[in-house]
Amino acid sequence: MSKQKIAIIGGDGIGPEVTKQGVKVLEKLAQISDLEFEFEDFALGADHYLETGELVTDEVKADLEEFDAIYLGAVGDPRVKPGVLEHGILLDLRFSFDQYINLRPIKLLDPKFTPLKDKGPEDIDLMIVRENTEGLYAGVGGFLKEGTKDEVATQQMINTYKGVERVTRYAYEYAQKRDQEKKLTLCDKSNVLTYAHDLWQRVFAEVGQDFADVKQDHMLVDAITMKMVRNPEIFDVVVTCNMFGDIITDLGAEIQGGMGLAVSGNINPEGVSMFEPVHGSAPDIAGENKANPIAALLAAAMMVEVLGHPEEADKIEQAIKLSLAKNQTTLDMGGNLTTDQVGDYICSVLE
Ligand code: NAD
Ligand code: IPM
Ligand code: MN
Repeated sequence: MSKQKIAIIGGDGIGPEVTKQGVKVLEKLAQISDLEFEFEDFALGADHYLETGELVTDEVKADLEEFDAIYLGAVGDPRVKPGVLEHGILLDLRFSFDQYINLRPIKLLDPKFTPLKDKGPEDIDLMIVRENTEGLYAGVGGFLKEGTKDEVATQQMINTYKGVERVTRYAYEYAQKRDQEKKLTLCDKSNVLTYAHDLWQRVFAEVGQDFADVKQDHMLVDAITMKMVRNPEIFDVVVTCNMFGDIITDLGAEIQGGMGLAVSGNINPEGVSMFEPVHGSAPDIAGENKANPIAALLAAAMMVEVLGHPEEADKIEQAIKLSLAKNQTTLDMGGNLTTDQVGDYICSVLE
């Protein structure tokens, strides 16, 4: 089997601590399967920025283009103004590699970790398909009379037919293939965003004509936060814009057991994809070997799956399920293992 070349961007805070566990687990997976990985580290993040003033240069992007996938920890550092690293590294990579799909599964792996009363793994198993390259994230806007009492600040929500069509089509295809109810819910705010989300409504209906076997559903974003808590079982696949996808997936992370378990795939179906935990760099616990690496390990599993090896990916997920069932976890999950020890435990299960 050919070697998979993986670029590692540990990033800031707990980022490198959790990607280190991911690499360890993938190396173990390679030992027990036909898979082969080649890793290369890219030292991007706050330290590199503070030393050189560089975020991601065109040379680095050209190098990354040669990889089969990118595996990212997190970026963000209290020494750097909010947004500089997030925009300059994370969003720049998502946009530059045109990773227009953000796949964020909400799946309860172990019943004891949901805060929802009377809900189990059969109720909490949905997929959020988040648009990942436009919307309020496009970076269009500016200041007028900045710093004065007459200041005007704008940030425009960019919705293109192409952008909405491709993410909607992907979501329908995903719902069609998923072994579930075959239902796609459009989550928007079409009652207020009467231009931007009118486009989403029209495209959703139009693309839906090609998917007669997928049930169409619609929910406003405020209502969906309510329903995800009260009746998560009514969802199969949800498609939504960049901003709402960001917000509802943190809520989703909590109902499936917390940020330590939530995973995110930035997918370009025709190009280089990037896999990461949903959580950030957690400066409050960085450097203490306390971070939960499971989200990063699930991101590694998703990467293996998207690279075409679902059975091998499932081995990682099964090992993680066992660690949860046996409380071989970090403090945030009620366990008493360190970050490294959780990684070692998952490796020992794979062995
Ligand atoms: P955060 O996810 O870093 O942390 C929120 C809370 O969850 C903190 O209390 C933290 O300790 C805890 N937490 C997060 N991940 C954990 C883990 N794996 N194990 C145990 N506990 C964990 O979010 P924040 O505090 O809002 O942001 C911190 C920085 O990270 C900011 O600079 C932000 O912009 C950045 N950020 C980056 C990404 C990314 O790179 N993908 C995502 C979100 C936030
Ligand atoms: C996420 C993060 C990012 C986002 C930030 C850090 C730019 O919150 O991956 O969920 O908003 O997409
Ligand atoms: Mn987020």
